[in-house]
Amino acid sequence: MQRLATLDEIPPRGVVFSYKEGPFDERGILLRSADGGVRAYKNECRHLPMPLDDREPGELWDEHGRHLVCNSHGALYRPDDGLCVAGPCEGSHLRTLPVVVRDGEVYLETDKLGGFFNV
Ligand code: FES
Repeated sequence: MQRLATLDEIPPRGVVFSYKEGPFDERGILLRSADGGVRAYKNECRHLPMPLDDREPGELWDEHGRHLVCNSHGALYRPDDGLCVAGPCEGSHLRTLPVVVRDGEVYLETDKLGGFFNV
């Protein structure tokens, strides 16, 4: 388990965090969801394996603040389920990362990451 944040520490537009998956240094996006829970996604577009904010580090949202956006070719993802609703990978999903909340703290369940080539 890797502690990521307390619930109160997650800003309205989420936060990017680092984690290890096998030998690889990866980045994830941690969000509060509309139902009051939390969501975490691998920060990797489903069009090409690049961070959503590759061109503009830290810029993860469209101009309306409604969708996560890939800076490279504009794919839009719903924050609550990671579905790509527009762009070159429409219909695909961001990879969900396993997180759990215990006593107001959010943890990444590193033992459930599932290997290097999990999709
Ligand atoms: S790499 Fe994200 S839309 Fe092309």
